[in-house]
Amino acid sequence: MKNWLLTLSVSLALAAGAAQAAGNPAAGKEKSATLGCIACHGEDGNSPNPIWPKLAGQHPSYIAKQIGAFKAGDRKDDAMSPMALIIGTDEDLADLAAYFASQKRQAGEAGTVEQMTVGQQLFRGGNPATGVAACAACHGPAGAGIGPANFPSVAGQHAPYVEKALHDFKAGTRVSDPNQMMRSVAAKMTDAEIAAVAAYVQQMK
Ligand code: HEC
Ligand code: HEC
Repeated sequence: MKNWLLTLSVSLALAAGAAQAAGNPAAGKEKSATLGCIACHGEDGNSPNPIWPKLAGQHPSYIAKQIGAFKAGDRKDDAMSPMALIIGTDEDLADLAAYFASQKRQAGEAGTVEQMTVGQQLFRGGNPATGVAACAACHGPAGAGIGPANFPSVAGQHAPYVEKALHDFKAGTRVSDPNQMMRSVAAKMTDAEIAAVAAYVQQMK
């Protein structure tokens, strides 16, 4: 009986935690202004500068995970690392994540014809000759990612940011990917392939 009660109270506590972790988008909108996130990521999460990632439409659990990565130093960035540290509570983080996730991402322009061909091939089928895995296997055929697995949405993301992220993984300076999932993909890519797939990803909707 005691065990049963304990189990029940633990599951209720977990359920309450999960409900809280879902976050409040309206509160998140206010916090994104107060904390200054919108100065770089845009009021609606579509950042004006292509080196600042779009957060609109991103999976909330991935957003929360990345803030943890900046805090822990698994990701380092002069602009972003200090900002992660000013997010005080789990509730603030959940609210911010819920707000940006609720916004609609705007896709960008296409690259050159050659980049679209090479980029699409890499995204859908990888490069079997050099062992580059197909991006679609984890990021989904439309680039929307898989929320529960923390595979981020990449569709419509700024090409210069995607390119930088892939170079960070390739250089091993971003180590936030579990089991080196992205580092082992990026390590096998040429600079031209990285530029092509980044241009391709930017126009995906
Ligand atoms: C001064 C500009 C700036 C401000 C202000 C800022 N960020 Fe960022 N943010 C960046 C940059 C630049 C990156 C990408 C860093 C990199 O290349 O690794 C980033 C990355 C992120 C990421 C990872 C996105 C991804 O796709 O992996 C999240 C999440 C994020 N910021 C949330 C926030 C939140 C929440 C706030 C407010 C508390 C905030 N940022 C404030 C510049 C900023
Ligand atoms: C085996 C699964 C897997 C494959 C294959 C894969 N990715 Fe990823 N990718 C991930 C995971 C997981 C992350 C999140 C890493 C983290 O938490 O920092 C990620 C992150 C990224 C990011 C950073 C997103 C952001 O907002 O910062 C980009 C860009 C990216 N992947 C592009 C690609 C491209 C392009 C390909 C194909 C050439 C590819 N990925 C193949 C699993 C994968």
